Amino acid sequence: MNIAANPVVQADETVYLKDYQKPTYLVESVHLDIQVFDDYTIVNSVLHMQRQAEGPLVLLGRELELKCVKINDDVLSEAQYQLDTEQLVILNTPEKLKLETSVHIHPETNTMLEGLYKAGDLFVTQNEPEGFRKITFYPDRPDVLSVFTTRVEADKKYPILLANGNLLEKGEVNATRHYAIWEDPTKKPAYLFACVVGDLAVLKDHYVTSEGRDVALEIYAIEKDIPKCHIAMEALKHSMRWDEEHYGLPYDLDNYMIVAVSQFNMGAMENKGLNIFNTACVLADEEYTTDGAIMRVQSVIAHEYFHNWTGNRITCRDWFQLCLKEGLTVFRDQSFSEDLQSAAVQRIDDVSVLKSHQFPEDAGPLSHPPRPDHFVEINNFYTATVYEKGAEINRMMATLLGKAKYRAGTDEYFRRHDGQAVTVEDWITSLSAGSGVDLSAFLRWYNQPGTPTLHVHADYDATAKTYQLSFKQSLKANAKYPDLKAVPIPVAVALFNPNTGEQYTLHSSDLFENHVQDGMYLFDQDEASIVFTDVAQAPVVSLLRNFSAPVNLVFDYSDDALAFLIQHETNGFNQWQATQTLLERILLNGHAAQSYIDALKHTLPAVVKKDPLLASRLLDVPSENYLASLIDNNYSPEHVKAIRSQLIQTVAEAMGEFWKDTYKSLDPAKQSEFSQAMGERALKNIMLSYMATQKDKEVFDLAFAQFSDSKNITERLGALKVLVWYDAPQATDALATFYTRFKDEPLALDQWFMIQAAHPNLTEAQLKALATHPDYDLGTPNRIRAVIGGLNSRPVNAWSFGVQHAVELAKYLDEKNPIIGSRLLQALSRWYTLAEPKRSEVLQALKDVQPSIRSKNVSETLSSILNA
Ligand code: TRP
Ligand code: ZN
Repeated sequence: MNIAANPVVQADETVYLKDYQKPTYLVESVHLDIQVFDDYTIVNSVLHMQRQAEGPLVLLGRELELKCVKINDDVLSEAQYQLDTEQLVILNTPEKLKLETSVHIHPETNTMLEGLYKAGDLFVTQNEPEGFRKITFYPDRPDVLSVFTTRVEADKKYPILLANGNLLEKGEVNATRHYAIWEDPTKKPAYLFACVVGDLAVLKDHYVTSEGRDVALEIYAIEKDIPKCHIAMEALKHSMRWDEEHYGLPYDLDNYMIVAVSQFNMGAMENKGLNIFNTACVLADEEYTTDGAIMRVQSVIAHEYFHNWTGNRITCRDWFQLCLKEGLTVFRDQSFSEDLQSAAVQRIDDVSVLKSHQFPEDAGPLSHPPRPDHFVEINNFYTATVYEKGAEINRMMATLLGKAKYRAGTDEYFRRHDGQAVTVEDWITSLSAGSGVDLSAFLRWYNQPGTPTLHVHADYDATAKTYQLSFKQSLKANAKYPDLKAVPIPVAVALFNPNTGEQYTLHSSDLFENHVQDGMYLFDQDEASIVFTDVAQAPVVSLLRNFSAPVNLVFDYSDDALAFLIQHETNGFNQWQATQTLLERILLNGHAAQSYIDALKHTLPAVVKKDPLLASRLLDVPSENYLASLIDNNYSPEHVKAIRSQLIQTVAEAMGEFWKDTYKSLDPAKQSEFSQAMGERALKNIMLSYMATQKDKEVFDLAFAQFSDSKNITERLGALKVLVWYDAPQATDALATFYTRFKDEPLALDQWFMIQAAHPNLTEAQLKALATHPDYDLGTPNRIRAVIGGLNSRPVNAWSFGVQHAVELAKYLDEKNPIIGSRLLQALSRWYTLAEPKRSEVLQALKDVQPSIRSKNVSETLSSILNA
């Protein structure tokens, strides 16, 4: 038998979507017995299997010490199977069989944080996408769904023994060991299996579903972190209600558990009934957690909860469909978060992430469609494109359909596919059938890479009183995906009276095929135009309101029109977008800053009073990294840094006493609403940093007082940044105070590392000092990300000595934790845009490391970026 011919199991080759084949065997039930010991773990499994297609019985397994295989109670001899580093293939198997295996594994030395691993004193699992094969031999693919019963056994020094589902039994093995047996009644793929062994405390609550089910809710964490679990618990109950109200989806088990882990590769994992969370995405308390991080905790709690229906009950047929569950679930968590704070600000924050991460990814060598058609290492495809662009595609369809039709569409999806492993086509087909609107053209968004460019041209005819908008879309083909077709683009439009600032009522000719509603038009051809009639005067147009489609808009706005929109646009998102577009012109095209300054002067004071959070966003200045993403060649980090700080100086001076007056007028402690207080804190911190650029003598005293007097970490960190980044005399002192206060609070200490790594004039020696600090830990991804994240926020440093740091780290992680190693390198993907000699230097550093790379993860990323 030719094993290599099976694309699903060939280790070092590209896997193609077109080669998908059904699994040869289904698993009717799984019984696992996991016995944890200090220096090894025994995993015994019993699978009841049933043939469903031609071909050999293939069980995937990696780094497993096989002790025994039995079929229908007969021990197999080595001649009866083929075993290599990736799989166990058994020949001549019957239609129906009982397969038993016994393996030993080593969670205690597992540094990859995949499969079963030990994080400090806690044993936890991470099985998405392909971790389960590191626990036992199994058809580890998402289209094999089964019912799991799990027995977990360990020393009594680990009182907590958890697995998915309901606790059936708990008892003693002997004087030192105990066990628990869990049964999960819902069929699930192996990537949703989880178990936890350790010594944790628990916060308990409960929730009664719309169906009357009383669900026990439990959040497990180390004892001292339990007080930091309340915000997550409230967010969980809120999410459960939200999904009932907005999607008609109630929870389906009698318990829901969340476990907090400090060593975790990503944010969190939606294991059925037993979520495992990075501590950074579950612990939240204003004394230790920044406002931004608190918002993130709530959205990740919602995200993982929402996966129970979009991901778990309806899962993916294969990993090419990852976007089916992730894109939809991100759209759902974004919608949830829009209910938690100002919807406009939530949209601003989501689009910021999209534009600063996904757009650059899609414009560089790592570009891929939301549903790729090939990959080497699936872990490399948990990307901004799959998550964030995926969410945008769902948002576009939801926007076009409107609430009622969208709901009819999602209802149909759950009706048709509950309990199944499906594809993106199944989703679009259900949504179309339920809503009665053909959405099949949206498949192009899933299958094509690159950000489309939307060119818009406007003509006003003063005699006819007509205003014409002409649209053209262009897509950038690449070698892997050569022929691209026009995508459907919902365009939200408003026209404003230039004198009064009021919005015109729209009367349009139906030049578009689909006229959805006034102000919303579906543009789905290469070119089309629309004519608005009865437009009294040449209007100011606002395009793509609320970012109605994830495209690059090219429209010849005048600076005055943008300044007008900053003052008059009623859609908060587009008001913000106007500030950003105007600033891009000032920064990159050398336009004068005056129109921006005037618009701020007119607009901000009122917004500060009414909506401080929105006001804080209107003061955003595009980051150096974002600006860099708009520059495709001869990029000089030093130059971008210089023009950006020049602009900030200019604005700081021009606004005079505004910063100080506003600073003094704010008192977040007086606000009872969290989002109002958050807005005031954000503003206060921005005011401080603007004052610092003016070399205001008082500012360091104000900052030091804010740092010392506040118990709220958002305020403390905002002040600490100003002190450290502007080299205030109090900086060393403040850093030492912060360290003493938070040295036993890893997440707060991450911020301490981050602030220092993000010093604008960081030296190589200082970076080294951080990376060799006793509290730096290469086994904790959060700590690595704190330093690398801080460093990368300063491209001048990141693209000089930072490159060597990143490359050495990637080389180390290639062996210890390739998922993280690969992600580190993704940040270097735009090396080819740099001006010489930097470009050649970075290229050389990347080439130098290539021969020592072993993992599929890092080598796939490295070869893609070297192919730029
Ligand atoms: N499915 C997880 C989510 O909700 C993400 C995930 C994929 C993940 N692989 C992981 C999380 C590995 C932690 C570790 O987004
Ligand atoms: Zn997810």
